[in-house]
Amino acid sequence: MISLIVNGERHKVDAAPHMPLLWVLRDLLGLGGTKYGCGQGLCGACTVLVDGEAMRACSIPVGDLNGRRVTTIQGLESPVGKAVQAAWVELDVAQCGYCQPGQIISAVALLRQKPKPSDADIDAAMDGNLCRCGTYQRIRAAIHLAARRLGGAS
Ligand code: FES
Ligand code: FES
Repeated sequence: MISLIVNGERHKVDAAPHMPLLWVLRDLLGLGGTKYGCGQGLCGACTVLVDGEAMRACSIPVGDLNGRRVTTIQGLESPVGKAVQAAWVELDVAQCGYCQPGQIISAVALLRQKPKPSDADIDAAMDGNLCRCGTYQRIRAAIHLAARRLGGAS
């Protein structure tokens, strides 16, 4: 059994240590908000926070995460998480929506590290999150809006 704290709740999961975290979240814990895209760490659709750091859930064996804290799109209750989600809604960022949970998680990780990100900071931090609908301009605007709402000046 592997012990994880997911969205603030402790879980013991009966999974092989090499099972990717993404399958644990989606198939064992029923948390379908985190999406499967490439399965190879290349698209960012599966991004979650592990102890506050943005990581690709498709590429992390769950056995490496014993005792660690995972946050998915369904558990973003922090002020930064709420501000980012509100900005996304206000600016109507999503198109098809598939990539957006990963985009939002990466944006939260960025704003925790850099409360006033520049355009270049945003582009660098979001580089690994692909959007086939091309919502990049709205993503950038929403991150600036969330930063302003949180007291940053970007
Ligand atoms: S599904 Fe994980 S990076 Fe694409
Ligand atoms: S909104 Fe469709 S892939 Fe990003």
